[in-house]
Amino acid sequence: MASSSTSKLSGKRAFVTGASSGIGRAIAVALAEHGADVVVCARRQRRLAEVVSEIESAGGSACGIVADFTDEAKIIDAISAGAEAEGGGLDILVNSAGLARQASLVDGEYSDWADMMNLNVLGLATACREALKFFPDTGGQILNLCSMSGHRVPGRGGFYSATKFAVRAMTEGLRQELRLAGNHTRVSCISPGFVDTELLDEYFASASSPLSRDEAIKFPILKAEDIAALAIHQLTAPEHVDITDVLLRPTHQAV
Ligand SMILES: NC(=O)c1ccc[n+]([C@@H]2O[C@H](COP(=O)([O-])OP(=O)(O)OC[C@H]3O[C@@H](n4cnc5c(N)ncnc54)[C@H](OP(=O)(O)O)[C@@H]3O)[C@@H](O)[C@H]2O)c1
Repeated sequence: MASSSTSKLSGKRAFVTGASSGIGRAIAVALAEHGADVVVCARRQRRLAEVVSEIESAGGSACGIVADFTDEAKIIDAISAGAEAEGGGLDILVNSAGLARQASLVDGEYSDWADMMNLNVLGLATACREALKFFPDTGGQILNLCSMSGHRVPGRGGFYSATKFAVRAMTEGLRQELRLAGNHTRVSCISPGFVDTELLDEYFASASSPLSRDEAIKFPILKAEDIAALAIHQLTAPEHVDITDVLLRPTHQAV
């Protein structure tokens, strides 16, 4: 017999950004396991094909769309193509595409700041705006990947942190705008501490005098599947429940 979360997500049409690896991939797989039809999106076609194949071999439904989410026109096309692949609509948008570099605010590179701003802030805002056009009149759901860095500023990660404070502000700002317009779409975020993904390797490799990831983190950290389990919990909450933000820390992470 189907679990209640399977029946709640059964037939829902979900678009997941950053689905070629890490948290986005784990959420896409979990959504499909719970009965959703999933559009997986990112730049690396081969990785997306692997996710589609994993979902289909488990009996789920998925299609892949390649797009760079730092380019407004490509985001517009990708979301429109995703909705078309799902029969003309979407019910869920998960914004997991993101980038983290330790780019100093004292002497960092403009290009690092721009890369993070374009993807983490402008890409996410554009994806929300475009997906809303394809949600049902009764409202859909948007889940943004924020971070503990959207709640506190880690040393050497000030610019990344600024983009994640922006994600939290956009999540709340969009929620309020929609309510004022009488739109019942729920907009939430998840704010994880360290998660074992490729992003952490890039983050620790990007400092000018880098501590390696293994030197910096000497305790068990979260797995992408931990975030996916929380995402399913948020996305299957009863309609009158809006879980707006959840901090999820590795138990041993002090700050
Ligand atoms: N890992 C952590 O410790 C941690 C903690 C807190 C929050 N987060 C947040 O969680 C989210 C997911 O990160 P992750 O840890 O899963 O990292 P990840 O494994 O590196 O995944 C990042 C995803 O973003 C996609 N992406 C990167 N640049 C892109 C672009 N220009 N256009 C489209 N897609 C792009 C990547 O795919 P392609 O390269 O194929 O495009 C990949 O699928 C991010 O928003 C991150 O800030 C992570």
